[in-house]
This record gives sequence, C-alpha cells and structure tokens, in this order.
Amino acid sequence: MNKRFLIGTPLSPSATKVMLLGSGELGKEVIIALQRFGVETIAVDRYAEAPGHQVAHRAHVINMADGQALRALIEQERPHIIVPEIEAIATDMLIEIEQLDMATVIPTARAAKLTMNREGIRCLAAETLGLQTSPYAFADSLAELRSVIDNKLGYPCIVKPVMSSSGKGQSRIDNAGEVEVAWNYAASGSRVDQGRVIVEGVIDFDYEITQLTVHALDEGGRVQTFFCEPIGHVQVHGDYVESWQPQVMSPVALQRSREIAWKITDNLGGLGIFGVELFVRGDEVWFSEVSPRPHDTGMVTMCSQRQSEFELHARAILGLPVDTSLVAPGASAVIYGQLEAKGIAFSGVVEALNVPQSDIRLFGKPESFTRRRMGVALANGKDIEEARSRAKLAASRVIPIK
Ligand SMILES: Nc1ncnc2c1ncn2[C@@H]1O[C@H](COP(=O)(O)OP(=O)(O)OP(=O)(O)O)[C@@H](O)[C@H]1O
Ligand SMILES: [Mg+2]
Repeated sequence: MNKRFLIGTPLSPSATKVMLLGSGELGKEVIIALQRFGVETIAVDRYAEAPGHQVAHRAHVINMADGQALRALIEQERPHIIVPEIEAIATDMLIEIEQLDMATVIPTARAAKLTMNREGIRCLAAETLGLQTSPYAFADSLAELRSVIDNKLGYPCIVKPVMSSSGKGQSRIDNAGEVEVAWNYAASGSRVDQGRVIVEGVIDFDYEITQLTVHALDEGGRVQTFFCEPIGHVQVHGDYVESWQPQVMSPVALQRSREIAWKITDNLGGLGIFGVELFVRGDEVWFSEVSPRPHDTGMVTMCSQRQSEFELHARAILGLPVDTSLVAPGASAVIYGQLEAKGIAFSGVVEALNVPQSDIRLFGKPESFTRRRMGVALANGKDIEEARSRAKLAASRVIPIK
C-alpha cells in the first residue's frame, strides 16, 4: 500500500516513526535525511554503536535474522515505516508484519524476501520476466557443482553462495582443479543456509553500472518511476572500490538498461529507491541483481546529484516528491580500514580536503578491519576523469592510525 505520510513532531504522540533494519553507512545517511524532515528514527543493527545508531533518536542491538526478536522490537517501537538496509533479515516475519498491517515495509516485504536470496531474484528476472542474465545453475553439493559446470556452464564461471553480499564467499573458477576450493570458500562465506550456491557463466562486459531507480508518488498520489544518471563502478573481489556518475553509454544501452530497471522494480513494487546492477557490452545489457534500497556505489550521489540517493529514498518512502537530476560529474573512492583495531583515528584529513572540489565521509565504525569500508572520498570535476582522480587522491591521503 503506497501512501503519503503526514509528518508529525518527533518524540510526541504525532511522531512519524521510521525504523532502519541495518544501520551502517547507508542507513546512517538515510536517517540523517529523515531527521531533516523531522521524522522520529529508530536504528537497529547487530552490533552496538553502528554508524546509524549514532544519529538516530533510539538505537537497538538485536539479531535481525531472529523473527521473534524482530517482532518483539517492532511491537515495542511501533514504527509506521520499516526500512531494510541489509539483506540478512527474517523476511518471513516482515511478510507477517505487512499482512497484519502493523507497518509499511520498504519497498515491500516480498521484495526484501526475494532479493535476500540470489535464487529468488534470479529466477524472477530470468524466468518470469525474461530478462537477459548470465547463464546460471544452482548446486547443493560439490558433486552437483562439478556436474552443472561440466554439463551446462563450462569454464570460466563464478560461484557465489545464494545468500551473501559484498563478494563474500564468491570466486571465479578457470579450470576443474579450482572447483573444490571455490565450493569450500562459498560455504564459509554464506550468511544463513550453508551449502547452496549459484554458479554463473562469466559475462565479458565492457563496463558495469548501477541504474538507480526511484518509485515515488506524483501529486495525484500515483506511483511514478524516476531514473538517475547511470553510475559506473569498479569492483575488486566483488566489493566496490570506486564509482562515478554519469557513466557514458550508447543511447541504445541506456534505453535497454532502463527498460530492465523498470520491469524488475515494477514487479517488486512499493516506494523507495532501487539499485539495479547491470553489465554492458556495446548495446547489449545483462541484468545482474537488484537492491531494493540505496546502493553502496550510489554514495557518489552525495556530491553529484541535487538529491542524493539517501534523500531520494527518504522522500520516496514518505510519499514526497523527488528530483533525480545530476548537478555535476562526480566520483567516490572507498577509504579502507587498512588495519585491525578498535577506536582508530584518521590522519591526513586536512590533506584530503585540500584536494579541489573534494569531500569525505568517515562512518564512525567502532572497529577497523583491513578491508572494512571506514569512509569514502567524494569529488566533482569538469568531467568524470577529473572527478575520479580527485576522489582517489583524496581517499589515498586519509591514513587510518592506531
Ligand atoms: N556472471 C558474472 N560475470 C562477470 N562478472 C561478474 C558476474 N557475477 C559477478 N561479477 C562481478 O562480481 C561483482 C559482484 O557480484 P555480485 O553483485 O553478484 O555480488 P555481491 O556479493 O552481491 O556484491 P555486492 O553486494 O557488492 O553487490 C559484480 O559487480 C561483477 O563485477
Ligand atoms: Mg552486486
């Protein structure tokens, strides 16, 4: 049910209350955007002092994959809107909550359930909607994995746990000697259910994009679909390191990308922003996956768009108007922890901010890991090349220290 919310006064009986399930760097920015509209915010995560906890009206630490714990917290807080920020949530409980009309789940509980499992979203995209995807198969054992590669997919191929994100448990296999290692690695990187993988043929793309797509209400209360300019990005080991906007595309590839984005998001329904991940070669486009929420590569929009992906999400879920226009070419570059320690500090911030037209966000995560994303550098430029080199330079100047 797509409705416009009346905004009340936080911490009073008229408050409009939004609960974030997952409160990392993306959730933190959504909360800040909601705070600016005077929304009462409740941040939930599995560990204390998560980035979003630090800017919300209230913070809770629970295991969000535990349906009973989730339900108890929702009954205690009584949010009007529930915003999943991560995939690992008891989505069957979200379906119950939605059916009981206890809260609006963004974009829909069904979308949260389908996208938490690669199998659900891939089958919907390829089989139900007929979208072009990489060739794929599923396997529940090492023997079955060997058999689907031998009989269907061949080499090279990519193995991923059906439930995982940020490249966890994912590896590329170039020959039969690598299958067992990939199987074991997938089992170790899987989030919830051990031992089911998707294996995909490798698409030899020219570049990959995130097509941010927004469902928002128009003045008459009808749902409209809005597109942001395409975002190009670089992934290393399945994790994003750099992104920029706009990615230059042929008109045909852009149109095909938007048709795919329209079809998949229309099927998922609801209000809010979606990050549709696509592979492009020439005029050809493949659907890869979709996040029914802001996308990590979309952090660039904090410097490149009039309204960032977080502001767009906040507005869309409240039923407010959105503006997806680009202001200037922009880029983002990830700042990694580079060391393993709690309560780290950052040197070089002055030097980073002395890069022309740059900015940084430090997420405030309580503990650093070598490959943990601790911040992001943003920059504008006269074109993408200039913006990218500035963002990378600014990121490289921030040095985590103990
Ligand atoms: N079939 C494929 N062909 C070519 N490259 C692929 C394929 N599948 C994945 N990749 C590469 O690996 C990256 C991560 O894959 P995918 O998005 O499926 O994983 P993920 O764990 O969900 O990552 P994230 O959560 O960061 O989006 C892709 O962005 C792409 O660069
Ligand atoms: Mg992805």
